Amino acid sequence: MAIKKDPTTQSNYLDIATKHIDLKWNVDFKSQTIAGTATLELVAKKDGVQEVILDTNHLDIKSVQVEGLKNDYSLGEQHPVMGSSLSIPLPKSVSTGDSVKVSVEYSTTNESIALQWLDAAQTAGKKHPYLFSQCQPIHARSLVPLQDGPSIKQTYSASVTSVYPALLSAIRQTPPSTGPAHDGKEIGVDTVTYTYEQPIPIPSYLIAIAAGNVVYRPFPVSGRSWTSGVWCEPEIIDAAYYEFAEDTVRFLSTAEDTIAPYRFGVYDLVVLPPSFPYGGMENACLTFLTPTLLTGDRTLTDVVVHELTHSYFGNGVTQADASSFFLNEGWTTYVERLLQGVLHGAPERDFSFIIGRKTLKDSLESYKDTPKYQRLVIDFDYGEDPDDAYSSIPYEKGANLILHIERTLGGLNVFLPFIKEYVNTFTGKSISGDEWKAFLYDYYQRNNPEKVKALDTIDWQAWFYGEGTELPVTLEYDTTLANQAYNLAAEWDASRKHDISTLKFSPKDLIDFNGNQIVVFLERLQSTTPLPATHIHRLGEVYSFNNSTNCEIRFRWYGLALASPAAKDYAKAAAEWIVDAKSGLKGRMKYCRPTFKGVFKTDPELAKSTFLAHETEFHPIARQLIKKDLGLAA
Ligand code: BES
Ligand code: ZN
Repeated sequence: MAIKKDPTTQSNYLDIATKHIDLKWNVDFKSQTIAGTATLELVAKKDGVQEVILDTNHLDIKSVQVEGLKNDYSLGEQHPVMGSSLSIPLPKSVSTGDSVKVSVEYSTTNESIALQWLDAAQTAGKKHPYLFSQCQPIHARSLVPLQDGPSIKQTYSASVTSVYPALLSAIRQTPPSTGPAHDGKEIGVDTVTYTYEQPIPIPSYLIAIAAGNVVYRPFPVSGRSWTSGVWCEPEIIDAAYYEFAEDTVRFLSTAEDTIAPYRFGVYDLVVLPPSFPYGGMENACLTFLTPTLLTGDRTLTDVVVHELTHSYFGNGVTQADASSFFLNEGWTTYVERLLQGVLHGAPERDFSFIIGRKTLKDSLESYKDTPKYQRLVIDFDYGEDPDDAYSSIPYEKGANLILHIERTLGGLNVFLPFIKEYVNTFTGKSISGDEWKAFLYDYYQRNNPEKVKALDTIDWQAWFYGEGTELPVTLEYDTTLANQAYNLAAEWDASRKHDISTLKFSPKDLIDFNGNQIVVFLERLQSTTPLPATHIHRLGEVYSFNNSTNCEIRFRWYGLALASPAAKDYAKAAAEWIVDAKSGLKGRMKYCRPTFKGVFKTDPELAKSTFLAHETEFHPIARQLIKKDLGLAA
């Protein structure tokens, strides 16, 4: 197969590829910079390679060495998405298999989009500042000069000096995680050097750092070769431990028993401050999580199950480039739900597909003007921003395609052996959607040739490249858990014909509903003709949606209200909820972006002024995207 160059990196990774990165960092909370050196060991992939080209984005490059000797370098013009290339001419050209050691002395700047430096006020404890990174999809280059594409996998080591405990996506060597926080030194005052090793080759987007006043609590694990536990500020450690201890260990154990051994040795969680722009991020050895998962009832742990499933799909078998992002997210979503099914039964598994189907429909509709982004496999142009295409489409279209394959082949008995061989064959590699498909055919050709005909009934062209708002096939799901929610929604739908004074709804209607069933109830109403304003008001009051502390519910409630004739009455409350200091900023983009957009539709000035008054509280990635959503940036 011809190799297509990754469209989002300027590095010459096809000529010479990074094998290992050694980081020496000093984290300085006063100047809000990370400064130090990155030493890359690269191996030539062909003969006559005369330079090394790395990606950087708003890094301050101070000097470069090659094999320990000072060397020339030049920075290319700044590209708005890809940053600027760092070209390092080699003193003598290298041939296939030769290694080169390149060392870059540098510092991050206040424009490094991967990093958010938080003031004490933006943390749970309000006493200490905090720092965290987000490198996926292409922001690692604003933290480290490197070859920033997912088809390059490298090991890394790091030595990080900081006045707060520093957590990296690797295995801590010193001081021990289970020892006293900050090695017994004074937090915020004394420096401690933290050393880490990541011995498994990983793509650059999994490099991560979080630093702040954090403590650790291990989860009980027995009979496994890995450890697991949670990091966070001391103020929320009890809540975090309660929320995640059981499900994390149970699901990672089930993943091992179902798919393959866990390779990374440590599976820790860190619960970040509320500006973290995602629900979760599968950084190697250390999943990053939004604190909005701390509901006290363990109902949102599916995010942890999703992130730990990435240990196989993404962190093991990796997308070759942004075009095959669905290999990471679609596969992870499919297997996350498979594990839910193993532990909680088929109705639970299908219930997740039902929730996902609505999100998919919304995403497909939101890209009506850019149908290219409705595709599962997107052909990105050189320098196009993958963040612009980010949506639930690769997750849900991908997971539905894989579910459709499972069913077409005759069920899990036939499909699970393939999944295992797929993981075993490609773990450690980066592949494209076509390579996955070719392997699928190859597997059944070898093991069960009559199944090849079944595979041929799948309309691959439509699944991979189809546009529009429908899936190529209508998949049916078990509705056991959704029926109650559907029935209640039907009653509300019918109630529009009746005068508000005659309605008999009461809080008891939801007594048997879990949080996700309430979500399905609200989504069902979002999919029907909007209710009259009077009924919307009543709905919010009867079920106390205006005060729900479960963000999944509150967010859908505002989604429903802001798309109804009562929208004006909810714009202010919705905008305030996003920036509310007491319950915490809703920095998770899943909540803030659609809510700001909903407010914007009814009251553009309110949406803009609310965002602008709180702009710096949002993560730089979220900031950039919200500005685009609200017409504040191109
Ligand atoms: N890897 C993603 C987050 C991501 C994707 C960050 C692309 C940047 C670019 C993570 O695994 C994820 O999918 N998070 C979801 C969790 C959900 C699907 C359970 C999220 O944050 O909502
Ligand atoms: Zn994911």
